[in-house]
Amino acid sequence: MHWILIGAATAAFGVACFFEMVAGGDGTMHADPLVDRGRYLVTIGGCNDCHTPGYAAKAGDVPEDRWLTGDTLGFSGPWGTTYPVNLRRLLGTMSEEEWVRFARHAQSRPPMPWFNLRAMTERDLRAIHRYVRSLPPDDRRVPAFVPPGTEPATAHIVMTPRQPRRR
Ligand code: HEC
Repeated sequence: MHWILIGAATAAFGVACFFEMVAGGDGTMHADPLVDRGRYLVTIGGCNDCHTPGYAAKAGDVPEDRWLTGDTLGFSGPWGTTYPVNLRRLLGTMSEEEWVRFARHAQSRPPMPWFNLRAMTERDLRAIHRYVRSLPPDDRRVPAFVPPGTEPATAHIVMTPRQPRRR
């Protein structure tokens, strides 16, 4: 009888440890499957490419503790200069419901692909919220939008479309 109880307790402890491990662990697996889904979505959905400093330049080799904290590298074009916002900060201010509503009506300046955000299923939007909220909060602000015709004070990528020269 004792042995059965000890065996059951050991099994329960093992399961608890397993969940503890995946929840706090290395980011590859989480107790809430939506968090894993969110991590997957921000990786393949390109969010890190712009919203994580150095991510595209280092071919994705940026530790997860820097993910989605926004970037001071601006994008300049006919719209002015925009900076990918700190998504930890932004989503930290919104409940899951508020985020779903926000994303459904998102319309930002280029090169933010807001139309892709709008096209996401509600489940995927919730997954992104849960994933971002599973990361440690980060309060850094990115530089403010710079209107067209004003030289930005930070490094920036120029995205002005050019026509080929006539021969
Ligand atoms: C090509 C670069 C790029 C990619 C890819 C990108 N973003 Fe952005 N994002 C930006 C920039 C730049 C801004 C700031 C736009 C502005 O100032 O109007 C922004 C703004 C946002 C905002 C704030 C919108 C608002 O109206 O305030 C959210 C939310 C956001 N991005 C989420 C995402 C998510 C989620 C993904 C991945 C699915 C993503 N972004 C992919 C560049 C990008």
